Amino acid sequence: MILPRLTARFDTLPDYPLATIPQKKRELAARGVDVIDLGAGDADLAPPPKAIEAIARAAQQPAMHRYGFGLGFVPYRETIAAWMHKRFGVAFDPFTEIVPLIGSKEGIAHLAFAYVEAGRVAIVPEPGYNAYQGGALLAGGEVCRYALRPRTNFLVELDEIPHDTLRRTSVLYLNYPNNPTAAIAPKEYLTRVVSRCRELGILLVYDNAYSELAFDGYVPPSIFEIDGARDVAIEFHSLSKTYNMTGWRCGWAVARPEIAAALTRIKMFTDTGNFMAVQAAGMAALESYETFVPTNVAAFRARRDSAVAAFRKAGFACESPRATMYLWIPLPGEVPSALFADRLLEEEGVVVMPGSAFGAGGEGFFRISFVTSPERIAEAARRAGRVLASMTAEVA
Ligand SMILES: Cc1ncc(COP(=O)(O)O)c(C=O)c1O
Repeated sequence: MILPRLTARFDTLPDYPLATIPQKKRELAARGVDVIDLGAGDADLAPPPKAIEAIARAAQQPAMHRYGFGLGFVPYRETIAAWMHKRFGVAFDPFTEIVPLIGSKEGIAHLAFAYVEAGRVAIVPEPGYNAYQGGALLAGGEVCRYALRPRTNFLVELDEIPHDTLRRTSVLYLNYPNNPTAAIAPKEYLTRVVSRCRELGILLVYDNAYSELAFDGYVPPSIFEIDGARDVAIEFHSLSKTYNMTGWRCGWAVARPEIAAALTRIKMFTDTGNFMAVQAAGMAALESYETFVPTNVAAFRARRDSAVAAFRKAGFACESPRATMYLWIPLPGEVPSALFADRLLEEEGVVVMPGSAFGAGGEGFFRISFVTSPERIAEAARRAGRVLASMTAEVA
């Protein structure tokens, strides 16, 4: 049977970096290889017990099984607003300024349908989380890729982008603490970006998925702590990383009513809200913030410390990140990241993300995630060191 041809916008989507990993892992495991997967940012740690109790309780109530629609489980909205206020000192209305999401990814991707179209530009950091380009490309927009490199401390410097492009730009995606580079953004930088977005009429999409995974006394801000941000920004939050709840699909967006309403309207036509029992669990997770999060962050810090020490010992030059669950590790110039990652998987059974999988701007690096124990991460580093040594010896 002949199918219609795929759309031009569908064809603009590049390969998805993690798409082939599960199959490769199965093949290696079938060959008896001890696979260590440091690929996806998907930790093996448990969610808050209170969240599990809450979903079990909620699942007993017939009302929870009905459509959530856009409104969802009202106490979840109220808890989000209270948490935003306590954590960042910013006040938002639970009904008109908060949008519950089926994980922050869907909200980030869907938002583009309201603000991006042919003839408009979306500025996408590269390397970066794929939902930014995914949304912008599916909305038919033009993607301007800005390479995040050490030169700018992995910050997007808007004034390096040609003015003609900026004039046509409707959306700028920013994510600090950053996946995959683990970079953080100083408040002075955020102030500068907010003010340029205001001048240029650009919507600042601030992805704060890692706001709670920070170490050594660093406390990541909300974009709304920056003067004037309310006029031009929408911020995305997720329970995935903070509470080890990636599979639950629970997050939210926060923005002034006009922007929140635009996202809500798109979602009315594309989904019907997430399972309200999951929202009840999300509420319980937020309520357990003070007891759960410090312990969870300590577990990630131990993994980070093990990763930094072990990768350095194995011959890699890496800095200790102050936030996120990632190390962004530079490779010597003669070692292509995709080849390195392929050989590490084939020869040593270790999954890492090559920088090039995040686009050309990511070349020269690879990413590991702190998703398993410090001991297993250290073992992965030893294996990576062997592959690095053999690749550099081959080139020499
Ligand atoms: C930067 C960033 N934003 C958003 C997300 C999406 O999180 P979720 O859809 O699970 O809320 C991720 C997940 O890896 C991420 O790394």
